[in-house]
Amino acid sequence: MYTLGIETTCDETSCSIVKDGTEIVSNVISSQIDLHAEYGGVVPELSCRRHVDILIPVLQQSLQEAKITLHQIDLIAVAYGPGLIGALLLGTTAAKALSLALKKPLIGVNHVEAHLYAAYMSNLDKITFPCLGVVLSGGHTAIVQMEDIGTYKMLGETIDDAIGEAFDKVAKLLDLPYPGGPEIEKLALQGNPHRFPFKPGYVKRDPQQFSFSGLKTAVLYAIKSLPTPLSSQDKADIAASFQNTAFSDVIQKLKSVPSSSIIFGGGVTNNKYLRAQLSQHFPNRTILWPSVGLSLDNAAMIAGLGYHLHARKGISDSLFLEPTTRIPF
Ligand code: KG4
Ligand code: ZN
Repeated sequence: MYTLGIETTCDETSCSIVKDGTEIVSNVISSQIDLHAEYGGVVPELSCRRHVDILIPVLQQSLQEAKITLHQIDLIAVAYGPGLIGALLLGTTAAKALSLALKKPLIGVNHVEAHLYAAYMSNLDKITFPCLGVVLSGGHTAIVQMEDIGTYKMLGETIDDAIGEAFDKVAKLLDLPYPGGPEIEKLALQGNPHRFPFKPGYVKRDPQQFSFSGLKTAVLYAIKSLPTPLSSQDKADIAASFQNTAFSDVIQKLKSVPSSSIIFGGGVTNNKYLRAQLSQHFPNRTILWPSVGLSLDNAAMIAGLGYHLHARKGISDSLFLEPTTRIPF
């Protein structure tokens, strides 16, 4: 069974063909980084215009690479949220039009859940439920208890910035290019992670929740306290101290929840320092990561999860499927 996945929640336009929920036959991703880099972050209107220009060519390329025609698709899965409303409207409208024209079922997929499915797809024989799921991306920070694919209990999420967003904003304070996460990681290699005693955000009413805005402000004050322009060592020490504090926060929260395995999803999980810290702190837990190409936004994870949801529901979503900017787990 071929599922077409469509992903347009933010600044990647992606279409993918996945066979039987797990075999990726094609996964074409067109990134908009070049477009948004000069603004230091995603500009929603520009993102929409690029999706409009590129969605059909990306769809065509995904079919070509999979060596199938539109008529061989059995199911259409689309990320209907969370994300930018204009970008979501484009993806869901394209999916609905295809569903109507091809007379094929349509399934709306939660983009954040799909980030966890990416790790599942990458480690099929190693995952056992229940396990912990952790999403660390530009738009989301969440720790969930996963009973099965599609069955989650939220344990902690962010009350303000997402972790990747904090990386991007701190990078901007340090005059680093967008997206900031990989730049901070690179710079931190030369830095002392203990020079600046930043503290992770603490949410008194619920300590399992994340908060990154205070950490970001602490970085701003550290920068203001130093002679300008910052020396390259100062910048590297700030990057290393910030990165270490943000990841220690994730690690401390995971330590308070017992589980034999943890699966990770989202762009921030590309970070090698994070991966090394987790193996060091959790030698007895099975830690599973998305494979290369599946940690950042992509449509293969949308198609894969869509296949499972459709198998469970047995029916198509309605053509009234609404793009939704915020979806609770
Ligand atoms: O999952 P993703 O593609 O988009 C969302 O769904 O939000 O993640 C993009 C985020 C950006 O904030 C980017 O800075 C961050 O992932 N990121 C990283 C690294 N690579 C990407 N953060 C830290 N270290 C990295 N190596
Ligand atoms: Zn994402």
